[in-house]
Amino acid sequence: MKVSTIISTLALAGAAVAAPSHKGKKLPTTKIANIEVVDTELVRDAIKVVEKFIPLQPYLYNHVMRAWLFGAAAFNNNATLKAQIDLEAHAIGTLLHDLGWDMSPDSPWVTKVHRFEVDGGAGALKFIQDHPCAKSEWDELRLGWVYDAIALQAIPDIPDFKSIQTQWMIKSVGFEFPGPRSPLIKDADYDSILAKFPNDYLFRGTNETFTWLAATKPDAIYNTFIQDFGTEYVPGFNATGHRLFDIIQGGLQQEVAAHA
Ligand SMILES: *[C@@H]1O[C@H](CO)[C@@H](O)[C@H](O)[C@H]1NC(C)=O
Ligand SMILES: *[C@@H]1O[C@H](CO)[C@@H](O)[C@H](O)[C@H]1NC(C)=O
Ligand SMILES: *[C@@H]1O[C@H](CO)[C@@H](O)[C@H](O)[C@H]1NC(C)=O
Repeated sequence: MKVSTIISTLALAGAAVAAPSHKGKKLPTTKIANIEVVDTELVRDAIKVVEKFIPLQPYLYNHVMRAWLFGAAAFNNNATLKAQIDLEAHAIGTLLHDLGWDMSPDSPWVTKVHRFEVDGGAGALKFIQDHPCAKSEWDELRLGWVYDAIALQAIPDIPDFKSIQTQWMIKSVGFEFPGPRSPLIKDADYDSILAKFPNDYLFRGTNETFTWLAATKPDAIYNTFIQDFGTEYVPGFNATGHRLFDIIQGGLQQEVAAHA
């Protein structure tokens, strides 16, 4: 290989690696609930996906919009942090993090075999990969940030050593939990987000959705925290025999018997 060929090959490889990262990249913006957010075709299309929740699960639409906007408000409040974040990936990872909650009978996202976090992660990947922008703008790294955030959203410690992108997608959803307001977000921003997307039914909606998951796809939720909603609220639900605990106990009894 000629030196010039090697150099141009390296340059191409460098360009291919650098191109998809949107970190610190200037993207078009708009304002939603008075919060400046990225405004790309992909983000607009993700909003259209979650708007489909409005008739049946309005609390879900409000929840994902708030999660995105709380994160965006925290970034707008800290320029150093904002420069580290891939704002488009963050928008997708927050807006689509609960596709697995879709209770519509013809849901394209919900399966009988996967827990809701995995349905959501797989759904978000499919949404991105089916989009015209996917080939040129989404590499394995960006896809991985989104999948990891959605799939790991309910397991507090595992994401601690994931990338800052994944961690901030999850952290943005965390602003939804009860407790004092975060000092990372301005009070005025909290007020405008909550005025436009009120939080008045989230936990009642969550309770309904999680009970529904336990009732409709028990095999997918044994050994996850949704199991407790089944035990508590679903008549006839019985996790005993399905838990990893039971499987280990079964092995244990066989082993003890074999070595008796
Ligand atoms: C802003 O973000 C940077 C980078 O994440 C962090 O080190 C710094 O502590 C943040 N500043 C405030 C005031 O939170
Ligand atoms: C939570 O959901 C279960 C099952 O639908 C229901 O029985 C219970 O009353 C709900 N709790 C509240 C406080 O709404
Ligand atoms: C659940 O199933 C286990 C094992 O099949 C059984 O021993 C137990 O009594 C059941 N519990 C209830 C509450 O039905």
